[in-house]
Amino acid sequence: MGALIWGLDTAQPVSDADFHRIEQTLLERVAVVMPDLAEDVTWLRNFGRRFGPLVPHILDQYHHPDSFEVSIIARHMGTAQSRTTAIPAGAFWHSDLSYEAAPSDAIFLYATHLPTEGGDTLVANMCMAYDKLSDALKQKIQSLTATHRWGWNTGGGTPALSTDQQSTHPDVVHPVVRIHPKTRRPVLYVNPGYTMKINELAPSESDDLLQTLFAHALQPEFQYRHKWALGSLLGLDNRASMHCAVNDYTEPRQMLRMIVGCTDSLGKPQQASG
Ligand code: SIN
Repeated sequence: MGALIWGLDTAQPVSDADFHRIEQTLLERVAVVMPDLAEDVTWLRNFGRRFGPLVPHILDQYHHPDSFEVSIIARHMGTAQSRTTAIPAGAFWHSDLSYEAAPSDAIFLYATHLPTEGGDTLVANMCMAYDKLSDALKQKIQSLTATHRWGWNTGGGTPALSTDQQSTHPDVVHPVVRIHPKTRRPVLYVNPGYTMKINELAPSESDDLLQTLFAHALQPEFQYRHKWALGSLLGLDNRASMHCAVNDYTEPRQMLRMIVGCTDSLGKPQQASG
């Protein structure tokens, strides 16, 4: 899991050949790190767009002034965008936009300000986690579905939505085991932040199963801990991972984030049965 990719330069666009190698590496390794990039929002946005449509985040108050396809994730910055939620944005395990009917293929985070210590980002590989489930559990969850909701269990890391924002974000249902559309590998597609319940089970059974799946997926052997450096760009395959910003710093920290939308059929309305 994870790959370090040197040699990108914001003075020039990424060639098709390099883009395909990066895209392939992201699929194979789930997390890719591209160090030493200048802060160039236009380059970042153009790079992100190569992976699919960039989705403007629901919290439009944090959109970057130069591009609504880029969000500012700031803490202790003393700026208007600096988050004041109980814990930092993303400081809970989640996969971006799992609370949307069309969730996210990938995320890119770029570090502009870092605390002297802490502020790492943890990533859990949900493809590895699925592979290491017992056969009995694989069988049990094979055809289950789960309901996801914005802000469900985020420990105060997500601000309340405005009425307008709320009206466009009803609960959504996704399969618990998702076949990755590109690698065709099965992935455990539930996360503590946004997954409320398993629909086919009684509430207590659903809670128990989710806790079992989360405890399994969060074992250190499935995790990569990203230690940031200024100018680093971290790409994550959201279809095959969940991530969590570590809440252990009090100095300024700021990321620029791009979210790549869903490019497979998971985003399309399902035919109702019966
Ligand atoms: C996020 O979850 O989008 C933010 C992660 C981070 O700040 O490390």
